[in-house]
Amino acid sequence: MTELLSDSDLIERIFGHIDNNTTDLGDRVWREPAENYRSVARFEAEIKLLRRLPVAYCPSAALPEKGSYVARVAARTPLVAVRGDDGVVRTFRNACRHRGMAVVEGEGCARSLTCPYHAWTYGLDGQLTYIPGDEGFPGLDPKEHGLIPVTTEERGGLVFVTQKDPVSQGALADLPELIAPEQVVFDKSEMVDEANWKLIGETSMEGYHIRSLHNESFYPYGLDNINVVETFGPNSRIVFPFRRIDKLRDIPAEKRRLQGMITDVYQLFPNTHMSVLSNHSIMIILEPVTPTQTRWEIYRLSNKFVDGAPVDLTAAKRDAGFVSDTGLIEDRQAARSIQAGLEANANSHFTFGRFEKGIVHFHATLDELLANQA
Ligand code: FES
Ligand SMILES: [Fe+2]
Repeated sequence: MTELLSDSDLIERIFGHIDNNTTDLGDRVWREPAENYRSVARFEAEIKLLRRLPVAYCPSAALPEKGSYVARVAARTPLVAVRGDDGVVRTFRNACRHRGMAVVEGEGCARSLTCPYHAWTYGLDGQLTYIPGDEGFPGLDPKEHGLIPVTTEERGGLVFVTQKDPVSQGALADLPELIAPEQVVFDKSEMVDEANWKLIGETSMEGYHIRSLHNESFYPYGLDNINVVETFGPNSRIVFPFRRIDKLRDIPAEKRRLQGMITDVYQLFPNTHMSVLSNHSIMIILEPVTPTQTRWEIYRLSNKFVDGAPVDLTAAKRDAGFVSDTGLIEDRQAARSIQAGLEANANSHFTFGRFEKGIVHFHATLDELLANQA
């Protein structure tokens, strides 16, 4: 299990940074070719890699009951994840074994999955259970026409899917418990931006832009360029302290509570970001659509209970609205602007400095894994 910093060690590290006007630093500067944000060949290699890693698909809490399902495209593959009668989550390629229509769309709960085209019906375990007019298909063995499964694993409150021949353990290496059973999904949304998926991901992996980009949104509450950055396996954790963390100085060390004093961002390699705020958490999966277009899959969850008391859902929704109406808009604008700006051909490379340690770790890992699968 990962040894991420304890709350008390994190608080001490943050106080040290505030007192000395420092931040966590990486050990190197990274130059990433700008072409990697628009090249079709690079994009195809990344899609291939996304299919060969365990990649977060949705929170377990999005599949709360037997029969709950979530259908969507992941790494350009239509999939559907379903919780079975035995409580186990299974994922299938979302293509009917008759003539290939998606058997289900969106999210919901069902006792079986019935294809809309001719009503071939599948059990929650993917077995083909019913063919209307089956005399029209002499010799067809239903056992050989179940939905095609893909490897699925629930870990740390998330559902991970590996589509084929894994090249590495990916995000599952040392994954901490990220979502507790009492947390509930209170909002699910999607949006599409004209930006490469990595440009969007990079916006949540460093705190060097808080004062500048988020001057009137996050900066009044948060510190600029004071972060704790830890890496674990291919993943990273970036802690963004709020100004109010200073209040903890007056509280005895053993009574200090970190919740509400930071935004805790877990970057799960390669395309998932789990941000834990005061009252709610946001799980974002960045689905690459084309080299220059990305679909966001966003789940908002209530936070863990604090001292046994449920988190106030009204406060969670209010905070979630603030983030998406302010800082998130600014991050999205930055990513889209960089994408459009590639056409200026001003930069052969982008330079990530020592403050941007989480991003350097991301690119180094991505390069290594792409090289492994070549
Ligand atoms: S394509 Fe699904 S029943 Fe025909
Ligand atoms: Fe940002």
